[in-house]
Amino acid sequence: MSTSINTTAIHAGYEPGNSEPRALPIYQSTTYHYDSVDEVAGLFDLSVEGHMYSRISNPTCDAVERKIAAMEGGVGALLATSGQAATLLAVLNLCSAGDHMVSSATIYGGTVNLFAVTLKRFGIETTFVSPRASVDEIRAACRPNTKLVFGETIANPALAVLDIEAFAQAAHAEGLPLVVDNTFPTPVMCRPFEWGADIVTHSTTKYMDGHAMFVGGVVVDSGNFDWDAHADRFPGLTEPDESYHGVVYTRDFGRAAFITKARVQLVRDLGVYPPAVQAFALNQSLESLPLRIRQHAANAQRVAEWLEGQDAVESVNFPGLESSPDHDLALKYLPQGGCGVISFVVAGGRDRAAALLDALQMISIEVHVADSRTCVLHPASSTHRQLTDEQLVACGVEPGMVRLSCGLEDANDIIADLQQAFAAIA
Ligand SMILES: Cc1ncc(COP(=O)(O)O)c(C=O)c1O
Repeated sequence: MSTSINTTAIHAGYEPGNSEPRALPIYQSTTYHYDSVDEVAGLFDLSVEGHMYSRISNPTCDAVERKIAAMEGGVGALLATSGQAATLLAVLNLCSAGDHMVSSATIYGGTVNLFAVTLKRFGIETTFVSPRASVDEIRAACRPNTKLVFGETIANPALAVLDIEAFAQAAHAEGLPLVVDNTFPTPVMCRPFEWGADIVTHSTTKYMDGHAMFVGGVVVDSGNFDWDAHADRFPGLTEPDESYHGVVYTRDFGRAAFITKARVQLVRDLGVYPPAVQAFALNQSLESLPLRIRQHAANAQRVAEWLEGQDAVESVNFPGLESSPDHDLALKYLPQGGCGVISFVVAGGRDRAAALLDALQMISIEVHVADSRTCVLHPASSTHRQLTDEQLVACGVEPGMVRLSCGLEDANDIIADLQQAFAAIA
């Protein structure tokens, strides 16, 4: 198999035999047939591979998991019903009540909420550190009960670029895995395992789907973390699982220990596995992901450069711009570009930003990013509308800030719509 991600996105995961369907079939079945009691017993012992019940695995989902694992360069992947579910699975596979984790503070707001509020209620504590924290600062935040370090390759919506190597170095020096949410760049633009990350998560809802059709997520295991070398810290992986008649994941599944445990223990118990039809649609979208994400990023670069030249724009935040404080990190981790999302601040504040959005014609207002259609959001009027101007600034959202997700239209048409909207509010 070619190592080009363009080819992997098309071919990995599904190889039809003679006279079998060329396109990945939708296996619309909750259940599977066995020839004998022994066959089914082997499945329950996890001693033979196969499908038991579609809450845990399904042939269509399995093909897509293999494709995403190949694209990220991992040993296995596990689909989930949302990006939130994927993050939750990655964390709960390592943390129990009484445990602790360290996370970059600049991550998706829903993940902040999951870590700081909901997981805290379940006894899992998080210390947030700056995405610019030094290796020593990250290490200083770790405790004896810390189980993982977490960050986001390109943070939504701050667009901060994670120094993956520094976070990995700090995590590994503490005997911990680094978990990276790689939603925005996708494995086409950045493969965090190549920089030392151990586990990757995605909201497939974003560029992997790319057409605003299905909410979904995935966890990918690099297979590189040596759980046995830190056996005391990770008994869930290195000691018998009584809920699975004594399976020891590291002993029985080797490099696939983490992802196997996440499936047969957590997904079994939490019930967050997607239906086959959703995986089928995701597979279709993944085939064009390399083409699409590069075009999203190229459009965003053009639009960001254009916005930077406008008097009506106070500032533009996009890692591909030389003016970005993260430009050096973007050159290192995202040499082909990052993603299609830009944020910019409209001169004149909250009301003028809202007026600009209302004046747009092609670009639509959506609580979403990464769609093939360009979309836009004014956080001060929507996701952050309960905050005063002072409170907005305190949490890093300017009242006039607009989040723009560049779609796949011609960049000239995106710019033309912005231009006429700026003219309309001048
Ligand atoms: C970077 C990132 N991670 C995770 C999520 C959560 O994903 P989902 O909405 O699919 O649950 C999002 C959603 O916007 C996101 O942007």
